[in-house]
Amino acid sequence: MAALYHESIVPRPVLDPVPMLDLTRQYAGLREEILEAVTRVCDSQAFILGPEVEAFESGVAKACSAPFAIACASGTDALWLALAASGIGNSTETGESSSRDAVITSPFSFFASASAILRAGAVPVFADIDPRTFNLSAESVGEVLRGVSGGKVRGILPVHLYGQCADFDVLKKVAEGRGLALVEDAAQAFGATWKGQMAGTLGTAAAFSFYPTKNLSAMGDAGLVTTSDQRIAERVRSLRSHGMTRRYYHDELGWNARMDAVQAAILSVKLKHVAGWNEQRCQKAARYDDLFRGAGLAGENSVGEGIVLPWTDPRAQHVFHQFVIRAPRRNALREYLAELGIGSEIYYPVPLHLQDALAGLGYRPGDFPEAERAAREVLALPIYPELREDEQQAVVDAIRAFYA
Ligand SMILES: Cc1ncc(COP(=O)(O)O)c(C=O)c1O
Repeated sequence: MAALYHESIVPRPVLDPVPMLDLTRQYAGLREEILEAVTRVCDSQAFILGPEVEAFESGVAKACSAPFAIACASGTDALWLALAASGIGNSTETGESSSRDAVITSPFSFFASASAILRAGAVPVFADIDPRTFNLSAESVGEVLRGVSGGKVRGILPVHLYGQCADFDVLKKVAEGRGLALVEDAAQAFGATWKGQMAGTLGTAAAFSFYPTKNLSAMGDAGLVTTSDQRIAERVRSLRSHGMTRRYYHDELGWNARMDAVQAAILSVKLKHVAGWNEQRCQKAARYDDLFRGAGLAGENSVGEGIVLPWTDPRAQHVFHQFVIRAPRRNALREYLAELGIGSEIYYPVPLHLQDALAGLGYRPGDFPEAERAAREVLALPIYPELREDEQQAVVDAIRAFYA
């Protein structure tokens, strides 16, 4: 029967659509509280930074066990602020500088992981990923460090992709051994842990994004930096407001990267729920795992054997911001699911070293085989706390029908 759908001999079943993400479900449960919070800001007529932002910062500091949390306008800004405040690049200076700092990062991430390094006045140097976790491979970082001229590399920017922390055991050792800054891109990993320690407290500083699709999401753009270093925290605070510690006296070249009070008020409402939502995401991920295995669709190692399911390092607590499989004939599968009204997404179809905007860095196809293979094979399936069991079943049934 299933094979017949695929060959279009029998009309495909009419299913209810399964959206990749449906934020209206989350909003339905929080509507009253959110409207109250927004009304409070409107009544106060205090719109930028101020007590709402400070309350959110304290809430995040507590939730992440981070000594300092500094809110800002986006995850992209948070990355730049974390880098600049850690002393990387020359973006806060007005004079000439002869050589540029370098920062090692992953070529398999959202564009901002690399563009923030350039915006900080430094240059991204890529290392390949671990094919099991999609995160920076510590081995590859070691190889790059051996190949790059000594003094140039000033930092490492690992990305906790899809909600799973990068291997901090090795990265921390490497960074400490060489005196490098370690800036976490935790945009997708609010609430994740590495050996019990929260994302956002693993390195020198960390950047979070609260973009609307994130597991802790604003109703617009918003981001935040965490750090345990008071000097970095003070510098982030200054840099997010034009390098200004006293009104209209500018100590260095900052930027306008402030968080709106409305976003902070909304985020404070959601912050109370995010741990529970993360747990529900993990339950959905475990259920997908059971359903795919039960359907006989799971291969262990490569797409030659079937679908490769997400792998969680036993040292990590994943938050499943995304549930990402490797799929044989990925693009055809995605089209098939779209025809059935089932959402999916490719994070990310072009690795960063092959992006046109970064062509000046001089990389070539073949430079990072694992990142390039991942870009060809990955497919993110719907996962969010409100996703229903019948919807998960429909996703797996559709995928089984495609491969039958
Ligand atoms: C890994 C990663 N880094 C950085 C960002 C940038 O965050 P934002 O969109 O809030 O600027 C995002 C989110 O889009 C992301 O997923």
